[in-house]
Order: sequence, then structure tokens, then C-alpha cells
Amino acid sequence: MSDNKRIVLSSDHAAIDLRKTIVAHIATLGWEPVDIGPVTTESTHYPKHGEAAARLVASGDCRFGIILCGTGQGIMMAANKVKGIRCGVCSDTFSARMIRQHNDANMLSLGVRVIGEGLALDIVDAFLSAQFEGGRHATRVDMILALEE
Ligand code: RB5
Repeated sequence: MSDNKRIVLSSDHAAIDLRKTIVAHIATLGWEPVDIGPVTTESTHYPKHGEAAARLVASGDCRFGIILCGTGQGIMMAANKVKGIRCGVCSDTFSARMIRQHNDANMLSLGVRVIGEGLALDIVDAFLSAQFEGGRHATRVDMILALEE
């Protein structure tokens, strides 16, 4: 297991408050949040925030990324364009656990207009406490990686 405890967090304007709540929450779990904003609620463009977080994960600077927008979908699509990123949108804890166990996801995306704060924190906990199982799942993740070439 990696000893990198850094988790980058970013969002668009829609999800600033939930992002800050998650920043505080993961710090209590012993993770090191790297909050890259934005800081104001001025309207912004989710692709650049998804990309910025994804680059910190892809480079190895951060172990995981947690990104948010209204639905979680747009910012996830942007993050997944960065080589080495496997990001899923989750609105339930089962999926959050499975994208770690089976897909070795390194980023989690959440939709602030889809789920409430309590569920969002449970989803974050499920994602961060699950481990990749490897084996046949590693073969499949390798097939995803091959698509990047
Ligand atoms: C912003 O209004 C909204 O489009 C964005 O937060 C997100 O839902 C896009 O996927």
C-alpha cells in the first residue's frame, strides 16, 4: 500500500461548500488534503478543475483525487482524459467501494446536486477504505491502460 497520504480536491463553483466539508473530514481520517480550489463561488469551468486535480494524481504527487461539480459527471469526464486517471462518479457506497476493489480507481467524483452531505462523506469513506484486489481485475485494468496508448 502506498504511503502517500496526499489527496487532491477540486470542484467547480457549484460544489465549494461540500468540497470544504470533505477536506475537513478526510483530515480527521489521517489523510493530507491538497485543496486546489476554487475559493469563490464565481461561475467557472469544471474541465480545468478536473484536469488540474487529475494532473496531480497522474504525476504521483497525490495518491487520490476527489472532485466535485453539480452532477459529478462533467468534471469526471475531464479528469478521465488525463493519462493514468481512472475516475468514477459515485452516488452510492457500493460503487465507491467497487471502483477501488475492481477498477483501481484513483479518483472519485461526486455530484453536489445529486447527493447530500451525509451520503457524500460515507461514499468518501467507502472509497478510501477499500483496497484494489488485483488478480483478474489487474488484467482488466491493464486493458484500460492499453487503450491510452
Ligand atoms: C454547472 O452549472 C454544472 O454544469 C456543473 O456543475 C456540472 O454539473 C457539470 O457536469
